[in-house]
Amino acid sequence: MNDEIAGRTVLVVGGAGYVGSVLVTRLLDAGAYVRVLDQLIYDNGFALAHLLDNERLTFHRGDMRDRVTFTQAASGADDVVLLASLVGDPVCKRYPELARQVNADAAERIIDTLDTLAVQRFVFTSTCSNYGIHDPASLAHEESELNPQSLYARTKIDVERYLLDRAAQMQTHASVLRIATAYGLSPRMRFDLTVSQFAWELASGRELLVYDADTWRPYCHIRDIAKAVMTLLRSAPEAVRGEVFNVGDNNQQFTKRMIVEEVQKHVPGATVEYRDGDTDPRNYRVSFDKISDRLGFHPDNSVQDYLGALTAAVQAGVFPDVHGNQRYGNYEVRHLG
Ligand SMILES: NC(=O)c1ccc[n+]([C@@H]2O[C@H](COP(=O)([O-])OP(=O)(O)OC[C@H]3O[C@@H](n4cnc5c(N)ncnc54)[C@H](O)[C@@H]3O)[C@@H](O)[C@H]2O)c1
Repeated sequence: MNDEIAGRTVLVVGGAGYVGSVLVTRLLDAGAYVRVLDQLIYDNGFALAHLLDNERLTFHRGDMRDRVTFTQAASGADDVVLLASLVGDPVCKRYPELARQVNADAAERIIDTLDTLAVQRFVFTSTCSNYGIHDPASLAHEESELNPQSLYARTKIDVERYLLDRAAQMQTHASVLRIATAYGLSPRMRFDLTVSQFAWELASGRELLVYDADTWRPYCHIRDIAKAVMTLLRSAPEAVRGEVFNVGDNNQQFTKRMIVEEVQKHVPGATVEYRDGDTDPRNYRVSFDKISDRLGFHPDNSVQDYLGALTAAVQAGVFPDVHGNQRYGNYEVRHLG
């Protein structure tokens, strides 16, 4: 592994989002020249406000579906990290046509232009949701059968296949990260994700309704997601080209009930109602051995540590007015005609 990030020009598409605003900070800290292409579809430009006077950051407001916009942003970049999409089952369900256009069609068009633009490395961010339902008695690994339960996961799988079919012939070294459900504090918080949602509801004194409490998911801190992307950018090309890596931690997989119990350690007496029969049947545990064995990637953070900080912040009133608020979740898409 050689630290080649300093001095490289990295385009982060979707860099103003929940994961992106943390990744951009880390890339700048590592000495990279960072370009962000983002259409700010949740009016989320505030997430980058504190970085906009960094002389190594260039911000392009624009829609990645537009070929000229993407080409201008990517021209001369060494590496491209694609984060932008309609992220999550609910927003894809609400805007199915946009989800196909952005998550699948535009991502595939971007892949088609990488060689022409002489991009050296490309990282596509996909999701462990692709495993959908997998007997939690065994861990799903990168070769396991995919079992998508949502349009969101289907669009991600379509792009994975498109990329993996071409990766061996491409000049660009392209890889796929299948990322666990994210948690962590970001300039652009998302309280529409399990850990943060449960903590916010309980720490702000609400009653929490939890469906299918004993379904499993893996979780990953956004700083560790950023670290994984940077690990890919630093790794030997032959180790990552055309490869899929799950991103997470074997020891950070929980049922919803386990997360509630962790939150209750910080919010004693918080009340929860459990019910069966959700519309989200996802249930899976995942092996993260490949990225650890091959690339030496190990996460640094835990849900347990995060919950102390988040519940204290919620109780201190740092996050008022969360429900349905664009600032805090992927509810209503704007600026995508
Ligand atoms: N958050 C998670 O739990 C999680 C888990 C697994 C994988 N991922 C993946 O990580 C990536 C980032 O997720 P996130 O949570 O940061 O999402 P996010 O919704 O917070 O950020 C997405 C960003 O993309 C931008 N965007 C959307 N459509 C665009 C377009 N057409 N043109 C330009 N910009 C556009 C949005 O304005 C936003 O800033 C996604 O690829 C997602 O699938 C996230």
